Amino acid sequence: MPQLHCHHSPLFLSLLLLSLHHVLGAGHDYADALSKCILFFEGQRSGRLPARQRVRWRGDSALSDGQAGGVDLEGGYYDAGDNVKFGFPLAFTTTMLAWGMSEFGAPGEVDNAMAAIRWATDYLLKAVSQPGRVFVQVGDPAKDHNCWERPEDMDTPRTVYSVDAANPGSEVAAETAAALAAASIAFRSSDSAYSQTLLQNAVRVFEFADNHRGAYSDNPSLKSAVCPFYCDFSGYQDELLWGAAWLRRATGNETYLNYVQNNERILGADENINEFGWDNKHAGLNVLVSQEYLVGHEMSLQSYKEYAETFICTLIPDSPSPHIQYTPGGLIYKPGGSNMQHVSAIAFLLLAYANYLSLSSQTLSCGTLMVSPATLRTQAKRQVDYILGDNPMNMSYMVGYGDRYPLRIHHRGSSLPSIVDHPQSIACKEGSVYFNSSGPNPNVHVGAIVGGPGEDDTYNDDRGDFRLSEPTTYINAPLVGVLAYFVANPI
Ligand SMILES: *[C@@H]1O[C@H](CO)[C@@H](O)[C@H](O)[C@H]1NC(C)=O
Ligand SMILES: *[C@@H]1O[C@H](CO)[C@@H](O)[C@H](O)[C@H]1NC(C)=O
Ligand SMILES: *[C@@H]1O[C@H](CO)[C@@H](O)[C@H](O)[C@H]1NC(C)=O
Repeated sequence: MPQLHCHHSPLFLSLLLLSLHHVLGAGHDYADALSKCILFFEGQRSGRLPARQRVRWRGDSALSDGQAGGVDLEGGYYDAGDNVKFGFPLAFTTTMLAWGMSEFGAPGEVDNAMAAIRWATDYLLKAVSQPGRVFVQVGDPAKDHNCWERPEDMDTPRTVYSVDAANPGSEVAAETAAALAAASIAFRSSDSAYSQTLLQNAVRVFEFADNHRGAYSDNPSLKSAVCPFYCDFSGYQDELLWGAAWLRRATGNETYLNYVQNNERILGADENINEFGWDNKHAGLNVLVSQEYLVGHEMSLQSYKEYAETFICTLIPDSPSPHIQYTPGGLIYKPGGSNMQHVSAIAFLLLAYANYLSLSSQTLSCGTLMVSPATLRTQAKRQVDYILGDNPMNMSYMVGYGDRYPLRIHHRGSSLPSIVDHPQSIACKEGSVYFNSSGPNPNVHVGAIVGGPGEDDTYNDDRGDFRLSEPTTYINAPLVGVLAYFVANPI
């Protein structure tokens, strides 16, 4: 009769763990995904590329950006698959990269993540270099979108757009202040001089945004350049609160705390509280400010925590409150295209809020349902795992991750032959043949996360369908922090 073993060999145990891992569908390589998620930003770079540029299919581009306005605006990021530098989403991208760094770090990738932030903040510092003015965009979007051209060949007008006291743009100015303030926290320990510079500019730009109020899309000289691309649909009030909240976090200064408290009703902190993205900051604002209530015991901020929890409850499928839409395969879904921007931003907020609850040893209640930080983290993980391949299409929506991913992303630089292989210029309309090609993009834009599948979980990998196949910086930016969390805390 065989003996009963009460302990097993290490080999047996590791085989058991491996098979459990398999059964549970785990096993995503979050470290690999994190490094790719950051690498994507190198492929979006505008300006003169540095010697340590790793994405080699790209070359220098838009070196004289700003000239049209008598200012140096070289650098920064192209927002998506086109070659315009849109300041509003660029600033939000920067805020989220910096929030991720200060909240979750970037295990094994700190230098690359900091370089991704600095590429943006170096540009934003140029954009705010003239007192009383913020440069908010470079490139005529209608003319740019009419061409299918590599950034290295770009010959459409690099029109320079700005806001000033007479033509205000509080949303873009306050988001720029938020980005500079958030980045000042990220750089505090590694480069305190740079951090100070960022913070001083954040203070000044916030003051400008607050003193000269208005939406940039109400400005006749800007309207056709920013709409319908990054029109301010949700108003500038949310960015003023968000900018003040970031300045409060970066400085500890009571002035900004008072601003956030006193303007809560005036600026409508209780409106549209279930949205978060480049246009609407409310849910992010409420989660950010809740940290000071939960962890910092600033009791006057209780209403922000209540709004944050109302939002979080809409994400919990078992909660009795009204719900956000999920696809049958389990992906957060909001109509309007580029859905993954919602997925990554919401996953970020779930993890940030879970951290604040953990730090204060609290749970939250959605009606009668008690929700723990672990539940929020599980929800975030489902979204990330869906992006990385646990979905009905069995494909990763991050280019270059796993063995099945989108091959025909809506991205000029990725879909046209590289400047390295094909140094002759390809003019505006000469690019159409590559746009129309059914073949895969020649340059694999590693780390690019596309807009993602439709509400039925299907994805056709069609370059022409930009709502599904275009990557954007503000899809990737929140996911950097999310992936960093799961690298450090595999669950
Ligand atoms: C706080 O910020 C306000 C507004 O920028 C400024 O006037 C004030 O001097 C700051 N206070 C401290 C203690 O730094
Ligand atoms: C995805 O994988 C599952 C399980 O292996 C399989 O049943 C399904 O048909 C696959 N779906 C697609 C679209 O390949
Ligand atoms: C190729 O794409 C362009 C731009 O979308 C389109 O206008 C044109 O009709 C297409 N040409 C061919 C030959 O398919």
